[in-house]
Formats: sequence, structure tokens, C-alpha cells
Amino acid sequence: MSQEKFILSIDQGTTSSRAIIFNHAGEIVSVGQMEHEQIFPKSGWVEHDPVEIIKNVREVIGTALSRADINRHQIAAVGITNQRETAVVWDRTTGKPIYNAIVWQDTRTKKIVEELGGGDPEKYKDIVGLPLATYFSGPKVKWILDNVDGAREKAEAGDLMFGTTDTWVLWNLTGGTKDGLHITDVTNASRTMLMNLKTLNWEESICKDMGIPMSMLPEIRSSSEVYGEGSKNSLLIGAKFAGILGDQQAATFGQACFEVGQAKNTYGTGNFLLMNTGEEIVHSENGLLTTVLYQLGDNKPVYALEGSVAVTGSLVQWVRDNLGLIKDAPEVETLAKKVDNNGGVYVVPAFSGLFAPYWRDDARGAIVGLTRFVTKNHIARAVLESTAFQSAELVEAMNQDADVPLKELKVDGGMTVNETLMQFQADLLDVDVVRPKVVETTALGAAYAAGLAVGFWKSEQDVIDNWSEDTRWEPAMDEETRERSMRVWRKAVERTFDWVD
Ligand code: G3P
Repeated sequence: MSQEKFILSIDQGTTSSRAIIFNHAGEIVSVGQMEHEQIFPKSGWVEHDPVEIIKNVREVIGTALSRADINRHQIAAVGITNQRETAVVWDRTTGKPIYNAIVWQDTRTKKIVEELGGGDPEKYKDIVGLPLATYFSGPKVKWILDNVDGAREKAEAGDLMFGTTDTWVLWNLTGGTKDGLHITDVTNASRTMLMNLKTLNWEESICKDMGIPMSMLPEIRSSSEVYGEGSKNSLLIGAKFAGILGDQQAATFGQACFEVGQAKNTYGTGNFLLMNTGEEIVHSENGLLTTVLYQLGDNKPVYALEGSVAVTGSLVQWVRDNLGLIKDAPEVETLAKKVDNNGGVYVVPAFSGLFAPYWRDDARGAIVGLTRFVTKNHIARAVLESTAFQSAELVEAMNQDADVPLKELKVDGGMTVNETLMQFQADLLDVDVVRPKVVETTALGAAYAAGLAVGFWKSEQDVIDNWSEDTRWEPAMDEETRERSMRVWRKAVERTFDWVD
């Protein structure tokens, strides 16, 4: 008797790791999820323990399988999606990381990127699509090689491996030190500053500038092909690993943005707006990144323009954990709804400097506009609004770079449950904001990439057919209010500049 088949998606994110099992209709069957520790050793430093991460990944796979009550033979393929620029360096022989993972939000590489640029932050932009900034993983690897005892010698002797967390997860689940696959996909590689966007190969000259031996780099493969099988101790023995997409690219895929000009915005730890630019590499004049959106097998790669904002959902976490202003994340909306407006308060969460469209490593966060009138309700409202303001700036930049302005914005991610935020977003953008039925588009996108590789789904049309609209927010703000709000926001942003040397 033939048994129903499913796709398992592993989402190794910034705050948690999840395993989600999807059926053929793209619906969620079961979920396993575990948070991992956020390590802040110094101001501006953010680390994760890669050993904790892989332990959690194994555990959530077990949870998802048992909750779905299915066995590994029913898994048609496995997809991986991940926080993108977080760098792990480990020993090839022992399989042990030589340092904690340096997370994408970490700013310790400020000096390194300044020195690499020698006064020109756009030095490598034509080749890699990215400005020199602390965000990307290549300079983080350089930091580890420069600062961990004996690391450079070991790297030069070929004893170390580098990977973003997709690579770390795949290597461990396919056999680790025995015969683990050392592979990444084009989307993750496009966030290292080390990959040539046109050739999709590592760029030797940049690796040399950063002092990164090429022997430690993973092989770059497409986002959708069978890479190999799960090993004995992975709970997924024999299951085909067949898809890898960086999480924001995965969400764009899961949102079925296959046509040039289609875009999505994900509201997660940070916000990430990606627009499909097709087979053309479009370079931004307005602070956006050029990145690979996906490559299916031997097909030509598809590119995207991306606006990245470092801190949105993590600001709500900070208000909960560091300020204790709210008990849980939903309370931020409860407080925000008690007031009609922000009372003149603006929160600019430049915790990791400012990413798009500013790229200011020297910025640090600010709360401005405080008076005796202001209550915690206004601050809560300003916290929510800062997510929408930052996203509105991304859309402005996108509209300036693209030929045609965005007509509507597809949204996903945890914060999209927040009605007040979504309405304010539609108001600020003056376009409809649309949320699909399945908001887990990140995990879904990686599932699609894996499922397409093994014929579980036939083509992108299946993805389009599975997508359906759940909620639509229409703009209801007058133009004058909109323009004034954006003007004051920009003034607040400028207050954060030049804070660190
Ligand atoms: O570029 C960083 C991004 O990939 C992290 O996404 O959802 O884990 O916060 P998320």
C-alpha cells in the first residue's frame, strides 16, 4: 500500500530552529521548534553556540516527525533554510567549532570592513552586489582567523571548514566528520561578499584580500537539486536533502514571487524586502543589495534587489527582555492600541548600526521626542511604528530603483499577526498589504525547493496554485499626514548617526 508523502523543512533561524512538515497542498502538518541562546559578550557582539543549534535541529526534527505520526520513508525530500550571514568555522577532523557562530547582527568587523574598503565601501559591489558592511559573513571569517589562537595556521593547512548555518546543518546531518557534505547554495553564498554574482563561483581575489583560504569554503550548488542523503544518526537516514535557500529568498519563493517586479516583505527578527529582477543583475542606486534569489538545478539563476533592516521584531524582544515594559510580544499591540498616535515619540533601533538604505555602521539606537506627556503606550506605539517606517524606506528605495512602483506588498513573518502594524504599514506605503493563508513562507519556500528537485511538485505553477490570500489591509491615511510622518522619522534617523567611531 502506498503511503502519503511529505516534505520536511528545516528552518535554522536567528532566534530558533524549527522543523516543519508540509503536505502536497503546501499546508503545515506538524511543527517542532526550539529557541537557542542569544549570546552578547560585548556591546555590538552577537553570537550563537553552533553545538546547541545542531542539537536543537536534531530534536525539532524528531518532534515534527512524531507529531505528524509519520516515518522517515514518508519524507520525499528535505529542504534547509537559514539565517543567512551567520558564520561558523569548525575543525574538519574533530567536527568542533573553533569559535561561537558570529551572528549577522554582530558589528565587531567594523574596522575590518573599513580597512578592506580603504575609503571605498563599494569596492566589491560590482562583483558581489553588496557594500562593505559588518552584516556579511566573509569579514566575520576573517575576524575568527585573525583572533582565535592558531586558527590561521590551521586554516592554511586545510584543517578548517567555514559555513553559514545551512552548511553546518547539512554537514552534520549527512555524516559530519565521516562523510558530511560541505555544500552551500547560491543564495547563501551571495551573502558572504566572496561570491561573484555572475559566475556563481568564489572570487579568488576577494578571498585573498580577506586572507580566507579557499580550501575552507563549501562547494556552491544550486538551490534545488539532490545533494545527498541523511546519515545514520540524523533521524533522516536515506532521506534526500534536495533544497537550500537563505531564509529571505525562501520566503520570496514561498510567496510565489516568480515574476519580475513581484516582492515580499518578511517581518522577523529584522525586516527583509526582496523584489524579483529576473535573470538580470540590477545594481541599486539607493542602498539596496543585489543578491541571488534562487537557482533551480541547471536553470539560469534568478536575481533580486533586497532591502534589509536589522532590527524590527528583535526590538519588541528587547522591550520585553531588557526594558521589561511588556510581559510578552503581543502586549506591545495592546499598549499601542490605547493611544491614537505616537505622541511625538520615534524609536530608531540602530542596535547593529543601520542597514538599508543607510548602511551606517556608526549609528546607534535612539528614542527621540520625549516629553512629560509621553506614556509607555506611546513608546509601545513608536516601537511598532518603527518597523513600518523602516519598511517604508525600503519600498521608497525599491520604487526608485525599479521601473514600475510596487502595486501591493505581500507580507509574512511573525509580526504580521499585528493588525495595528499592518494597517499602519498600508497607510505609510499607500498600497495594499496582503498576507497569505500560510504565513510560514520561509519554511514553505525551502520545502518547495526540495520538493521540486524530486518531482514531488512539478513546477513553479504548483507553488502559485497553492498560494492564497488571507487578509488585505487598504491604506486609509491622507497624503499630508503620511508625508509629515516620514519627514519626522527621517529626522529621528539622522539623530543616530556618528555615534561610534
Ligand atoms: O539576513 C539575516 C536573515 O537571514 C535573518 O533572518 O528570520 O532569522 O531573522 P531571521
